[in-house]
Amino acid sequence: MKIQRPKGTQDIIPGIIEKWHVLEGQIRKICEEYGFQEIRTPIFEATELFQRGVGETTDIVNKEMYTFQDKGNRSMTLRPEGTAAVCRAFVENKLYALPQPVKLYYRGPMFRYENTQAGRFRQFSQFGAEVFGGEDPLVDAEVIQLVWELFNRLGLKDLVIQINSVGCPVCRAEHKSKLQAFLEPKKEELCADCQSRFDRNPLRILDCKSKHCKELIKGAPTILEMLCADCRDHFTKLQEYLEAVGIAYVVDAGMVRGLDYYRKTAFEVLVREIGAQSAICGGGRYDGLVEEIGGPSTPGIGFAMGIERVISALESQKIDIAAEQAESVTIIALGEAARLESFKLVSVLRKRGIKSFLDVLGRNMKSQMKAADRAGSKIAVIIGEDELARKTAVLRDMKTGGQAEIPLDLLAEKIEELFKRS
Ligand code: HAM
Repeated sequence: MKIQRPKGTQDIIPGIIEKWHVLEGQIRKICEEYGFQEIRTPIFEATELFQRGVGETTDIVNKEMYTFQDKGNRSMTLRPEGTAAVCRAFVENKLYALPQPVKLYYRGPMFRYENTQAGRFRQFSQFGAEVFGGEDPLVDAEVIQLVWELFNRLGLKDLVIQINSVGCPVCRAEHKSKLQAFLEPKKEELCADCQSRFDRNPLRILDCKSKHCKELIKGAPTILEMLCADCRDHFTKLQEYLEAVGIAYVVDAGMVRGLDYYRKTAFEVLVREIGAQSAICGGGRYDGLVEEIGGPSTPGIGFAMGIERVISALESQKIDIAAEQAESVTIIALGEAARLESFKLVSVLRKRGIKSFLDVLGRNMKSQMKAADRAGSKIAVIIGEDELARKTAVLRDMKTGGQAEIPLDLLAEKIEELFKRS
């Protein structure tokens, strides 16, 4: 039997990887412009990090983690997200001693044992960014602006930014009791998971995927209605800042993020797809998380976007970010002596940084021309026996079909000149 890749994973093969490269380049560029530095943390961490950080009553921790005992009997988990790990690294490397705010970004695979469906994988890639040490809603606005600007540069359309405030421990206590009072009469009807969430963390009931629970929570009190003065002020200012730079948003009081660490700002960016909307980015503020992980009290805010989802949105909007490929030359050689010459020529061209191909299959002229066409080469260099005897080669412009015979020892220079001009 053939061995297949695990369910919910993907091979990113040539033809697709070019899009990843372009997107990754854009990510690095915008992060540098906004003053973020890259951080790379391990792919696996102590399980406790996510239990404490993401929250024990979340679906991610409860149902979706790839957890294993290592040979030393320690419980380890493939990271389901990046924020908890970046906070751990922030504390462990004493980055809190650096001038604040500390702005970090990361990119890499995350793992969640999910029910797979379109756009929902078990191994997926996130680009995320985190800002430590800034409480002001201006930081929240700046982070949302980065996301927005990146999507604009990529040319994505039909996006909606949803924002909400999920309050702080002060206002959340009041919300929790109101929510419990609302759900109390329906408690028996809730799914088993939600019944256990009822006492521990009723807010999570609002995030339940069961259809019946979704029905039961309709009309439940939202935290937005009972924000404390500090949280309300923070949320109002965030909206003012977004409006000041022309970022359109929608307030969604019902938005519950799937992770427990959020305080105050929560946001998502959705892309309208045929018949549905899918989240390509999610984030928010997590002012208590660094402390929870054993560091000094430090405010934090950030986001992560799913690279696969961004690429699929680009594809469905027919935006080819990898359309522009580096220009190339294909050497077409006929006969053994010409083959040797073509090998010498590509090595000179490659030394000059020019993308170049040669025939290694001993094909005839017609097939080699076809290969040059397929490779999208701007120029073909034809070396036949007659040319070789004259120590020349034919340089052919693949677009116009124009040709010229050039001495072999001037070829590399001539090609470089042509590429510089275009
Ligand atoms: P999240 O909403 O769980 O947040 O994930 C962020 C994004 O990752 C989602 O909007 C989606 O695009 C992508 N994503 C999540 N799960 C999958 C999946 N199974 N398959 C494909 N894509 C997926 C976080 O992870 C937080 N750490 C974000 C954050 C950073 N908050 C503050 N800082």
